[in-house]
Amino acid sequence: MSVIAVTGSASGIGAAVCEFLANQGHTIIGIDRQTDEKFTQVSADLSSPQGRVAAIEHVKALAKGQLSGLVCCAGVGVTAPDAALITSVNFFGVTELVEGLKSDLYQNDNPAVVVIGSVAATAQLAGPHAMVDTMLGGDETQTRQLAQSANAPQISYAASKYAVTCWARQQAAAEGNKGLRINVVAPGAVETPLHQASKEDPRFGEAVKKFVAPVGRAGQPAEIAATVGFLISEQASFVTGSVLFVDGGMDAMVRAKYF
Ligand code: NAI
Repeated sequence: MSVIAVTGSASGIGAAVCEFLANQGHTIIGIDRQTDEKFTQVSADLSSPQGRVAAIEHVKALAKGQLSGLVCCAGVGVTAPDAALITSVNFFGVTELVEGLKSDLYQNDNPAVVVIGSVAATAQLAGPHAMVDTMLGGDETQTRQLAQSANAPQISYAASKYAVTCWARQQAAAEGNKGLRINVVAPGAVETPLHQASKEDPRFGEAVKKFVAPVGRAGQPAEIAATVGFLISEQASFVTGSVLFVDGGMDAMVRAKYF
């Protein structure tokens, strides 16, 4: 079994991914700004370039050349303290970590990256926003300025998830011939502290509560973790560049004709 780094390991989906992969016999290196005793060995703030560099160096030191998987779960939602933070964590906190750990991933068999996107990436407001271009252009300063002036966390969130999904697919196309697989899992509503905070938010809570998936319930973190486990495994050896919706049918309900 192999060494897999997981961001957002202290809570929700990330913690469930750690649990699932550890039960399969993998060695886990958890990364989070919060501490927990179970899986989080790397304490890092992925919202800043310095925090990401520190995280990358610490993971490399712990993995000792054995890293074969990276799962990027860390993220903040619409209740984050400011709209710019959403873009820094959800986009640059993923892309810079993947870039920084790629050389280590290549040293091992069946290297794979899974990025946690969101069904929100498909929202109409995500694609056309200028923030998407600045994110994909790698310009964090400009992105943060755009996010701050728009001051609309729901746009920052949807745009960050759309951009990170596009980026992952571009990477899959570019890196495929070197053997690195990159896939995106796009959850719908999942019962975690992030989702609970959205439901309680006076601005967005009612809309979040009304948006119920066809299956009639929110998902559990373990249901997302099982999908991540499949995409990391060799059973998914021909799967790369895919966006797998794990959303109780939400995407099918909203956009049945787009896939
Ligand atoms: P959560 O709040 O339970 O867990 C997120 C984790 O990320 C926390 O442990 C937090 O400390 C960590 N984190 C946040 N900012 C960080 C930073 N700057 N540096 C290091 N770690 C940081 O949330 P949840 O729901 O488990 O979210 C995981 C991912 O799933 C996120 O990317 C989120 O956008 C995505 N997602 C969640 C959905 C939901 O309904 N829960 C739906 C769709 C996507």
